[in-house]
Amino acid sequence: MRQYLTLKDNWCFTKQEQNTVPTAVPGDWEIVSLPHTWNALDGQDGGSDYYRGKCWYVKELSIPEIPADTCIYLEFQAAASFCEVYVNGNKVTEHKGGYSRFRAEITDLLTENTNILAVAVDNSHHDDIYPQVADFTFYGGLYRDVNLIFVPKTHFSLDYFGAEGLTAESEITGENKALLKLYGYVSDAQEMDQVIFSVFNAEGTIVAEVCRPACEDASAELQLADLHLWNGVKDPYLYTVKAALVRHNELLDQVEVRHGFREFHVDPEKGFFLNGELMPLRGVSRHQDYLGMGNALTLEQHKQDAQLIKEVGANTIRLAHYQHSQDFYNLCDEMGFILWAEIPFISRMSEDPNGHQNCIQQMKELIYQNFNHSSICFWGISNEITIGANTPELVANLKELNSLAQTLDPSRLTVMAQLSSLPMDDEQNEITDVVSYNHYFGWYVGTIEDNEKWLDEFHASNPGRAIGISEYGCEGIITYHKDDAKAGDYSEEYQALYHEHMAKVIEERPWIWGTHIWNMFDFGCDARKEGGVAGRNNKGLMTLDRQVKKDSFYLYKAYWNAEPMVHICSKRYAKRHNDTISVKVYSNADEVSLFVNGEFFGKKEGHRVFVFENVPLGNGYTTVTAKTDCCTDTTAFEKVSEPFMPYQFAEDASETGVTNWFDNVDLNKERELTFKPGYYSIEDTAKELLEHKEASDILVNALSSLLGYNLKKSMLAVMGGNRLCDTASDLPADPEDTRKALAYINEKLQEIPKQ
Ligand code: GCU
Repeated sequence: MRQYLTLKDNWCFTKQEQNTVPTAVPGDWEIVSLPHTWNALDGQDGGSDYYRGKCWYVKELSIPEIPADTCIYLEFQAAASFCEVYVNGNKVTEHKGGYSRFRAEITDLLTENTNILAVAVDNSHHDDIYPQVADFTFYGGLYRDVNLIFVPKTHFSLDYFGAEGLTAESEITGENKALLKLYGYVSDAQEMDQVIFSVFNAEGTIVAEVCRPACEDASAELQLADLHLWNGVKDPYLYTVKAALVRHNELLDQVEVRHGFREFHVDPEKGFFLNGELMPLRGVSRHQDYLGMGNALTLEQHKQDAQLIKEVGANTIRLAHYQHSQDFYNLCDEMGFILWAEIPFISRMSEDPNGHQNCIQQMKELIYQNFNHSSICFWGISNEITIGANTPELVANLKELNSLAQTLDPSRLTVMAQLSSLPMDDEQNEITDVVSYNHYFGWYVGTIEDNEKWLDEFHASNPGRAIGISEYGCEGIITYHKDDAKAGDYSEEYQALYHEHMAKVIEERPWIWGTHIWNMFDFGCDARKEGGVAGRNNKGLMTLDRQVKKDSFYLYKAYWNAEPMVHICSKRYAKRHNDTISVKVYSNADEVSLFVNGEFFGKKEGHRVFVFENVPLGNGYTTVTAKTDCCTDTTAFEKVSEPFMPYQFAEDASETGVTNWFDNVDLNKERELTFKPGYYSIEDTAKELLEHKEASDILVNALSSLLGYNLKKSMLAVMGGNRLCDTASDLPADPEDTRKALAYINEKLQEIPKQ
């Protein structure tokens, strides 16, 4: 029987470069336990300066006594992002990509004496490893489990793209009936060996059993009736499929997976259907990080995230922008979330042809490793990939990825998350089975009403294309508060207003097959400095430490979670200088009453959002209570004489350049590109330019004008260490306009000497 040994403690760790591969336990390195990332702190503190490089982990392997004919594998649940593995100085394997599982057999490399495992993990930029560019921190390390697996020589395969060696797939064939297809992949099968597949219901009762001779690809089919379907969050009923590998009367190996019987489809006119019922997918996106922990999460933290997403009432999660932990996919199977799983082919296509091979590898790993998760219904092939150029090579690569996903798994749908500015009729919208757009109208660009205009126009002009919103959201920082909240003020109130609008727009359009808020939780982005907060993307409905639910969280809870609730908004906006205020309440009841200092103030009927105007504030504290027929919420506001200034976000003037001067520049003038040594030019990196005040002003102003919205220096920081002339082609602007803007920027930069 197979055995797992998790290598948790006593790893020696260093960032120091090593001239040779370590073959002994180093005495003076830091001792760490897994899961571990070296960016837990510097990846979240801003400055775009977190450590990206090669680090080493070394551990002595204590191998228990094992029977002859046992194979020993090393299994890495993930290593971010380029990993080389050595046992006793011998290279075992290497792996490119920081989010998927990989294994290697090490049996022949082990000695009877001490064995030393040395692992080099490198999170620096590689042209041939995705992701290439994004706002989120690319935390490095062995941030998921590393296991030793002991298996008899004949076993369910451990060698195929990190897969489980057993797959279960089903097709609904009638009411509560399905055809279940089972595949057991056996390595080194002998002629008499058998695979016994058994199917158990959730109560643990066996419901079917079928035997096949063991071979590399032992498959069986079963027609099952009286099934209990897996019905999303309403009823996530799971069966367990066990595969036992037997020789004579002995069990050699056994694996098990869970399986939910379900049918789904997307109707472009009507939306998403699960088991024949319309079920608009409404939910959130999630990144896998946590305050002070980076991406090295514990099972408890994964559980907490899943519980919070359940509490908000979501029925779907987009697991962005890469393969997540098996722990989380398992929880989603158990809790019934419909998942969008994706690879990190995001923002920009690498020019290195090996990069495409890496995408293909990550797509194969995503599908083979997660095939058995019934919660997954969509394979995402890319995100905002046209931020880089939209070239024929890109289209060809996307088509190849799409058909790969469709071929490996015809039972699910493919999808891509398009950049908002991608024209509706772009041929890229024809590639995947369904399509989805990231829209930030009302935050980065346009007005909040552009959302519904865009959606209705797309729906009317593309009746055959199922459309979703793969990202929408805006920043909300819980210490900023405003009465007349507006886009760009980072207040908790604007975030709430924005989501009130979006929740309504979405509710009125059930044909939008799926919507995913960006993001459930704030997440670490070391390059960002939004609203004066370094190192965060603050678009979460909750904070990075999972301690605070912003008002927007409760808005969606009122919309999506049927459990009775009532919530008074802007509690953190506690000091008020007006004599009367408006009090906003979110609830899923039809009627809410408000009490002021215990006295009845008024009653409102409504749908999710209830606003009570002219609530009087006396001196000192005024206690306000909102009540429905079964819930109540209370807070107090304090009357103060002057506006409390810390509630306002004061834009740091060094973050934005002087506005509008660029608009008066004659861009059509032909400018010669010069490159005087000792002066700045577009051949410098964005990082270098941003470090110089005048150069960065030129850059921010010119690019703001080119793109038509106010950029901030922190937003440009993601362009990082690449030459401006190379990354500028990635901007979503007309290439000719970009060329002219670059010529102008260059002319101005050439006036600034480098110190
Ligand atoms: C993009 C991108 C996200 C990013 C978001 C944002 O759409 O896909 O990864 O975090 O914008 O700007 O907040």
